[in-house]
Amino acid sequence: MKFYNLFGIRVSLWIQIIPFTILFINCTTYSSINIIQLRCEYLENPSGIDVPNPRLSWVLESTERGQEQKAYQIIVSSTEEKLLQDEGDLWNSKKIKTTQSNQVIYNGKLLNSRTQCFWKVRIWDKKGKGSKWSEPAKWSMGLLNKSDWKAKWIGVSSKSLKNFRTSDERETTKIEQRGNPVIPPSPLLRKSFFIEKEIKQATVYVTALGLYELSLNGEKVGDQVLSPEWTDYNTRIQYQTFDVTHLLNKGENTLGAILADGWYIGTFGQWGISKPIRGSNYGSLDRKFLLQLEVITDDNQMIQIITDESWQVYFDGPIRSADMFLGEVYDARKTHEGWDLSGFDASGWEKVVTFPSTNASLVAQMNEPIRVVKKLQPVSISEPEPGIYVFDLGQNMVGWCRLIVNESQVVRLKLRHGEMLTPDGRVYMENLRKATQAAIFITNAKGENIFEPRFTYHGFQYVEITGLSKKPDVNMLTGMVVASDTKLTGKFECSNSELNQLWQNILWTQRGNMHSIPTDCPQRDERMGWMGDALVFAQTGIFNMDMAAFFTKWCRDVRDAQDEDGRYADFSPLPNKNMPFFNAPGWADAGIIVPWRVYQNYSDTGILKEQYQSAKQFIDFIHTQNPDLVWINDVGNNYGDWLNGNTIVSDDYPSQGAKIPNDVFATAYFAYSTEILSKMAVILGYEPDADKYSKLAKSIREVFNEKFVNSDGRLKGDCQAGYAMALSFNLLPEELQKSAAEHMAREVNDYDLRISTGFHSTILLMKELSNWEYCDLAYQLLESHRFPSWLYSIDQGATTIWERWDGYVEGRGFQDAGMNSFNHYSFGSVAEFMYRTILGINPDDNFPGYKKFIIHPQPGGTLKWAKGEYQSIHGKIVSEWKLENKRFILKIKIPANTNARVIIPAKNIENITESNRPVKKAKGVELISFKNGTAIFEVLSGEYTFTSEY
Ligand code: BGC
Repeated sequence: MKFYNLFGIRVSLWIQIIPFTILFINCTTYSSINIIQLRCEYLENPSGIDVPNPRLSWVLESTERGQEQKAYQIIVSSTEEKLLQDEGDLWNSKKIKTTQSNQVIYNGKLLNSRTQCFWKVRIWDKKGKGSKWSEPAKWSMGLLNKSDWKAKWIGVSSKSLKNFRTSDERETTKIEQRGNPVIPPSPLLRKSFFIEKEIKQATVYVTALGLYELSLNGEKVGDQVLSPEWTDYNTRIQYQTFDVTHLLNKGENTLGAILADGWYIGTFGQWGISKPIRGSNYGSLDRKFLLQLEVITDDNQMIQIITDESWQVYFDGPIRSADMFLGEVYDARKTHEGWDLSGFDASGWEKVVTFPSTNASLVAQMNEPIRVVKKLQPVSISEPEPGIYVFDLGQNMVGWCRLIVNESQVVRLKLRHGEMLTPDGRVYMENLRKATQAAIFITNAKGENIFEPRFTYHGFQYVEITGLSKKPDVNMLTGMVVASDTKLTGKFECSNSELNQLWQNILWTQRGNMHSIPTDCPQRDERMGWMGDALVFAQTGIFNMDMAAFFTKWCRDVRDAQDEDGRYADFSPLPNKNMPFFNAPGWADAGIIVPWRVYQNYSDTGILKEQYQSAKQFIDFIHTQNPDLVWINDVGNNYGDWLNGNTIVSDDYPSQGAKIPNDVFATAYFAYSTEILSKMAVILGYEPDADKYSKLAKSIREVFNEKFVNSDGRLKGDCQAGYAMALSFNLLPEELQKSAAEHMAREVNDYDLRISTGFHSTILLMKELSNWEYCDLAYQLLESHRFPSWLYSIDQGATTIWERWDGYVEGRGFQDAGMNSFNHYSFGSVAEFMYRTILGINPDDNFPGYKKFIIHPQPGGTLKWAKGEYQSIHGKIVSEWKLENKRFILKIKIPANTNARVIIPAKNIENITESNRPVKKAKGVELISFKNGTAIFEVLSGEYTFTSEY
């Protein structure tokens, strides 16, 4: 046998040939495309969904240029074994010729409650070569019919808890202040049961009115917190589904649950109107619990364990009170070791009460759950006064603290959480208004005690602890960051490190304001789903994180909050329908604009279908109330371009001239939303509506121009905001656009190169400056350290975005504590500029979901390089550029099965190269045009490096 010397090792020719042959066969047999990220309704392997025909998606990976999917085949099986054998007993799509790789609607057998679905997909590539099957994925169906629920709502009647506390304890748990009814301790519920047979599979469906934490045999079920999250509880209540097979034993088992107030009962949502009162939002003080455990035994019998009269309850547990705004009180002396385990003596426990079923629908939770998503260690501890310790977490965060204490005696520790420090080093609490967000821990004197709240959350960077008997060290406290656990999809970095910090601050602010719904702020007594804020931040939010499932859920909340006459609420959910918060222009419009953003970014026509009637009702209502097409009637609280420059309090800043007049603002939104409605109608095939609303939008634009625009393109109000809005919403006739853009730039100069825009117009100004050859001005605003600016806040130590441009001003101090959050994302919408203009990544409305998109980076300011990415529904888009020796070098990645229009600055076309070859010879690149120093190419999927003279 002949031997060869390979890396100094003698190998036989056969040993070399065989693997190469196998490799060769593999290469030729299958397409090189890799199929990854299989998802169902935007979620990875979701349990218990309730969409009868869920939408499936996958991502294709290939470095080969111009690679695409020409066809797919999906197999869905009822067991893993069947899937392995390619037996699609639920659905075998066969080969379907299409490039579609997301929003693919399941089209198999009718899926019943509880069905387990295992699936995989393979594709055929551009050469018709089939790929290997993807890795398997799965989903399961929840309880689809009301009649599937056998469980009864159980809990504790509020009446029995009325005078539960001793007066002494009321004193101890004083965080419940201002005459509020006493918050009774969190009840513990338990039930032990026997399973006599071997267990094949066990699933639990569970929810609460209030909050719950569930355990099975002492182990917490699932890793989510604050379940079942927040919806309009009068309309729909989310249940969660968990596979608990691994937690269940043959023999005796015990279920345990702890209940708390949460959004359902807690002191919530009544700021500035009256003192927060428990139970006044949804009209109940009764925490309720519903659970159905279904066990399939090895003989395929189903055993159901349900909540009913047989459960027991204990009132005197360790969580003495828990409230979203006020915080949590935990008394370790009241812990009952083993209360949630079998064998525990529960003879002193009482029987639960049962409640009639509610009118609300039980729906599956299909948004990413709230979890602990990160842990932070403090960076320092100070002692501003003897015995008062202030921990600095180095980051304004949202969640709570985990505390480990070793005390040999009973001590009462009080934690106060705040975002800033007062001049004397104490935690600044005034801007929290009625949300005291405190934690009280009472130790049991048995050595190490670990405390961690679970039914509240706080917004804070600093934690003040009193009551310790000795000096603390940083390891005793951990900041537990709590948020809806949506995946990060964006990245941004550039040569200006302060902009990198700004991008991080925006991300932290987004994370801090996603707790089942998008909130305005996470700290003071508000934390509502303010629609205007969500509207302006939606695109940034989508760049940063996968918001598809989150917004799908929230749009349902938006519809639930809508008034019967069509007015959308100013925030959703609306805890109390009697609240006077409806139809503010720019807030209500989120009911149209947010689903539209979801469509643009994820090519989701499903959300348009769900939202359409409600969106139409909203526009019809405004139209009926404003037949002259100027939106001045039914404008609710008419906030306008909120927190614009006129609200800034500073000696050297103008106090007038920044505010777009409310009638201009409202009418601009009326036109814009109506136009979007007409586009929705086109997509959904509602032709008469498409025509009707397109005509209406045109008429509103005409009236807008008649009433508010001069012949020289000057707008009523003559401010940065007005021009930015009119241009961005495409309200002006073509011949006036250029002069309007000039007025916009003039206004920036008139403000001495400072910004004067509010929540709604800030990102519009940045976008329109860069659209209209004033990109240099946009960069100047972005990189400015001069007050008011983004970097000014960073110079003051900001690690999140402030609600107000002048939240804190050197020399002047804090703004009015009545409204001064340091964790408010609206002005953070500028990250959209970072993605769209600096990195140049832009969706294209004609090809939603990034099937085709635009890469158009516009270098400027001090930037020498920038790099970043966006994980689109079609895969990862990368854009990375640098300026070097008068050359512009752009590296990009276009996901397989997509293509892009690439726009680059260039002095001349001849000197443009791609991967070091003249661009004309580049594979996958086609020149579309070259003019005014800009080259435009159509580029197929793959990786490219363009170089041009700059
Ligand atoms: C919120 C805002 C919201 C506004 C309405 C404020 O209290 O915090 O973010 O949009 O009210 O003007």
